[in-house]
Amino acid sequence: MLQETLKERSASAHQQLEKIVVAKLKSIRSQKDYAELLKLFYAYFKRLEQVIEPFITDEILPDRADRRHSGLLAKDIIHLGETTDDIPVPEVPEINNSVQALGALYVMEGSIMGGPIIVQMLEKYGITTGTSFFSGYGSETPIKWASFMESLNQNIIASAQQEVIEAAVDTFDRFAFFFNNH
Ligand code: HEM
Repeated sequence: MLQETLKERSASAHQQLEKIVVAKLKSIRSQKDYAELLKLFYAYFKRLEQVIEPFITDEILPDRADRRHSGLLAKDIIHLGETTDDIPVPEVPEINNSVQALGALYVMEGSIMGGPIIVQMLEKYGITTGTSFFSGYGSETPIKWASFMESLNQNIIASAQQEVIEAAVDTFDRFAFFFNNH
């Protein structure tokens, strides 16, 4: 099944990115440090949203308007007293069709799974506000994830599996690269 294959084949890219994000989280000493981390998420997610936008139609993902997006990150950054001006422009994967767009979206939607862990870590460093992005869909998370995976399954035919996996791995890798260089 696509879901298991995708998870399995992108696991090592996920692990690498997770390591980098955890290291950044551990170095947070203030709300400003946290805002800087949010800015990296914002820069990457915002740019990715722009490049996938032409390919993710309502037909492909009917509830796409209700899904969490970089607007929440901007809200959190502003809540912490910072701005989204002077955000670096990251290199994101080249997206040329809906299969690749879904691969990138898999990474963005899946990032919510680590959300509760990130919120817990932040609490340890005394940060309890500006966490709406990482809190994600709250109790709705499993339902949102299941319906996203259903859309993915419906829209990816067997012969396109490799392409969606490559797009997902590339999306993880470029995010890790961007994090490492900022
Ligand atoms: C502190 C950093 C992170 C932690 C601790 C973390 C942790 C997790 C955990 C516990 C899961 C659930 C695994 C399972 O159900 O078997 C998960 C899944 C996932 N995470 Fe992360 N994660 C982190 C960062 C990220 C980031 C930054 C992204 C993407 C931008 C991401 C993308 C994903 C995806 C796509 C999945 C779904 C895998 C699947 O079930 O197909 N994660 N993560």
